[in-house]
Amino acid sequence: MNTTPTTPFPDRFLWGGATAANQIEGAYDAGGKGLSVQDVMPRGISGPRTPAPTPDNLKLEAIDFYHRYAEDIALFAEMGFTVYRFSIAWSRIFPRGDEDEPNEEGLAFYDRILDELEKHGIEPLVTISHYETPLHLAETYDGWVSRDLIGFYERYVRVLFTRYGARVKYWLTFNEINSLLHAPFMSGGINTPKEQLAEQDLYQAMHHELVASGLATKIARDLAPNAQIGCMVLSMPIYPLTPSPADALAVMEADHANLVYGDVHTRGVYPGYFLRTLREKGIKLQITDEDREVLSHTVDFVSFSYYMSIAETASPERSGGEGNIMGGVPNPTLETSEWGWAIDPTGLRLVLNQFWDRWQKPLFIVENGLGAKDELVEVDGVKTVVDDYRIAYLNDHLVQVGEAILDGVEVLGYTSWGCIDIVSASTAQLSKRYGFIYVDRNDDGSGTLARYKKKSFDWYAEVIRTNGANLTA
Ligand code: BG6
Repeated sequence: MNTTPTTPFPDRFLWGGATAANQIEGAYDAGGKGLSVQDVMPRGISGPRTPAPTPDNLKLEAIDFYHRYAEDIALFAEMGFTVYRFSIAWSRIFPRGDEDEPNEEGLAFYDRILDELEKHGIEPLVTISHYETPLHLAETYDGWVSRDLIGFYERYVRVLFTRYGARVKYWLTFNEINSLLHAPFMSGGINTPKEQLAEQDLYQAMHHELVASGLATKIARDLAPNAQIGCMVLSMPIYPLTPSPADALAVMEADHANLVYGDVHTRGVYPGYFLRTLREKGIKLQITDEDREVLSHTVDFVSFSYYMSIAETASPERSGGEGNIMGGVPNPTLETSEWGWAIDPTGLRLVLNQFWDRWQKPLFIVENGLGAKDELVEVDGVKTVVDDYRIAYLNDHLVQVGEAILDGVEVLGYTSWGCIDIVSASTAQLSKRYGFIYVDRNDDGSGTLARYKKKSFDWYAEVIRTNGANLTA
């Protein structure tokens, strides 16, 4: 009898896609929604922010998921999704962030999303805060620099768990929590310009977010006992640029700066290497006894995004190149995407093994994909995109997920990023497309918003139908 499995993916593996409210919903001021930091970031992470929303900000309308969600979720269902990751816009629920009572219209919107998902048998995976802190909290409190944010976040989370706790099993507390130091305004609603921000304040903000995340886990045990709470980190395998011990040490230090967040979420305490960093920087965090107790509530699983790896070096002449927001230097052995992101499927297997070995928690890949320029063409009278490059990228990464599963790593599921075209977070463009579904909207805001299935739509449907057996090594 042939017992060789045709696929390494377990039977209950969750397959789907992921988006974030600010990149997909639009309707930025509908239904009582307040402004979020994204509404004043028309150029993405590094572009200047505006005093108020401006018409060139594509996120204000995005792809109008707010009104078209039923049609879009039906398309996800047609691909066979068993999970859909989306975020709740904090400023729909608490328009300013510091109110006592939530906005019922905002809550009702997410009820409708959950109804639609239930109708199609799709498991929701909810990000509580995805780069969309209410703008009022940024402008009045300097975002997570203020300890007050813990209380506002707690109030928000209590409302979410009470309202949706019985319907949503998987929750993520903060999107890419380890990007805070690199993108303080987008990631932490910190209004003070990065150049003027004291490191003391930045690290204190990090501590506040970690406490808030622990609090969400603690509260869930009472309010939503069936919930599984995960942290979410940006993963980035780091290779030494040369085999020199100095470069290996530079890798260890860069790794530590990324991994400390997962360490705290899974171990419940700050690791020694991080305490050393604080000591050497002369930073004294305000940590209360209550904070320590809250941090001890560790997560049920670890989720992460994976797009690329980087190289690191100790050599000052060679460093300083354009790696990405997390630093690092380009790796000369790898090809890059049209946006300069290194393409490295093996890195995904490495990261899965590293996280599993280090944390021994089930893992969930909640973002991965290729941002590329697509061309809408007609094939047999039907408008589509022949995105073989995207199919190749996803195939190669999923093959490595399969390898990691064979390595013994426990993986709960995979949600491909931007399963329908959405506005990019780093550049705020629509032309940086990730989706299986093309959306007719351009960088200048023109377009009908019509949806078209790309070639990858049928390919991914087949991946899901066969539970990964159609992937080609
Ligand atoms: C992740 C973010 O960093 O990368 C997403 O969680 C983002 O919000 C994704 O969209 C891809 O980045 P970009 O800049 O191509 O949209």
